[in-house]
Amino acid sequence: MKVAFSKAALPTGAAVIVPAFEDGDPTAAQASLESATSGALGKAIKAAKFAGKKGQTLDLVGLSGLESVRIVMVGAGKRADLGLLEAEAVGGAGVAPILKTQETSAVFALDGFATDNLAAGVAAARIAFGAMLKAYRFDKYRTKLEKEQKPALDKLTINTPAADAKTKFADLEKVAAGVALTRDLVSEPPNILYPESFAARCKELEALGIKVTVLGEKEMQKLGMGMLLGVGQGSIRESKLVAMEWMGGKKGAAPAAFVGKGVCFDTGGISLKPGPGMDEMKWDMGGAGAVTGAMAAIAGRKAKANVVGVIGLVENMPDGGAQRPGDIVTSMSGQTVEILNTDAEGRLVLGDAVWWTQEKYKPKAMIDLATLTGAIIISLAHEYAGLFTQDDKLAEQIAAAADASGDAIWRMPLAKAHFDMIKSEVADMKNIGPREGGSSTAAAFIGKFVKDGQSWAHIDIAGMAWNTKDKPTCPKGGAGFGVRLLDEYVRANFE
Ligand code: BES
Ligand code: MN
Ligand code: ZN
Repeated sequence: MKVAFSKAALPTGAAVIVPAFEDGDPTAAQASLESATSGALGKAIKAAKFAGKKGQTLDLVGLSGLESVRIVMVGAGKRADLGLLEAEAVGGAGVAPILKTQETSAVFALDGFATDNLAAGVAAARIAFGAMLKAYRFDKYRTKLEKEQKPALDKLTINTPAADAKTKFADLEKVAAGVALTRDLVSEPPNILYPESFAARCKELEALGIKVTVLGEKEMQKLGMGMLLGVGQGSIRESKLVAMEWMGGKKGAAPAAFVGKGVCFDTGGISLKPGPGMDEMKWDMGGAGAVTGAMAAIAGRKAKANVVGVIGLVENMPDGGAQRPGDIVTSMSGQTVEILNTDAEGRLVLGDAVWWTQEKYKPKAMIDLATLTGAIIISLAHEYAGLFTQDDKLAEQIAAAADASGDAIWRMPLAKAHFDMIKSEVADMKNIGPREGGSSTAAAFIGKFVKDGQSWAHIDIAGMAWNTKDKPTCPKGGAGFGVRLLDEYVRANFE
């Protein structure tokens, strides 16, 4: 879907989407449509009891007096409640009914859509952003869909007199592209997206000015990454480590580092997972997907910041050559690990990836993202990602980025007790703790590979990487969670 901006007062031709507030006077756009239809629009709104409530929509066809056959009214709620995220939701909710039709072009009629808190240009840009996020589709493997089963919308025009709407949208469009890339990556099936092909997708980001380095198993062996390699040793696919560098900031300034868990498929290994639902483990690379999408967003909008993204890519398979429970492996840090459950593999991948990241980049701050534990879904459902850090300042910065971006997080405990719970009798640590506090001990495990004084946070996104339900700015499926969070974090703290 292409987005264009126009200053025309009355939309012509295409379907029209009109946001309406719950309180105060109708917008100028609504008023002009009202008179163009000789009052029919108002009558229809009244008859349908459309009150402008948040998320409410009314799909009207055939009102006379208009060139446009279709008008979609969309509720924007109370004026005082309209913030940036609410405006995005208006964009998503407004375009949603259109996506179910065969309309090929639509116009958002935004003349007069502004509040005391939210200027017209910003509101218009955010509406366009929300509509773009909502219009995302992943149907490349559906070869037999009839034309009528696919949305036809390919042009969305934002009608607003605000002169700055288009420039305000320019950065957001890049962020939307980053979110779409992440959604694509988590949606791809595991026979198509495996470490090598994932790395190839990262290489494509060189077009944005990102420097991409790919390490194979030989190089990782040399570096001593026994934890990461142990996870991948049962797979016929070669494990990879990808580093993506965007150095848009001051030369030599320490970068922000994002590290992602990229388990392209997680069977559990020899500690095999049960069959039902195992297909979901295709998105066990959601952390790596988020880091990759964030790098695309940050480079796409040419952020004046130094940022590196590092992803550990493996496939966790059972096999004659696979890692066993009982194995002891040596990490790049030199610490040894007793493997007690081969399904606790993400932390093994991340431990070596975060160690390498620190050695190579000496980052100012390091944040890892991972679909790490089922336990975080028990704690936080599909409402928040879990944030684990002992750095209160970093926690505050991430919380602020979460509020601004809508990628919701909730801080969880990470204490000495959790580190004590992964002590081993035979090695420096074991890769699982007791059942209790499973997300915190997983975080503590990664923490064992964080150097003293390094600012670090871990975000467990197991409950957030995949949507089983439609959301206002996201269709079912890959959520793209984390892209906006990391982008906002960079914007607020590194630019
Ligand atoms: N990838 C899973 C965690 C997961 C579960 C993500 C459900 C998304 C949805 C992870 O590798 C895993 O298997 N974790 C185990 C850890 C346990 C063996 C200590 C878990 O959560 O059960
Ligand atoms: Mn696992
Ligand atoms: Zn996993």
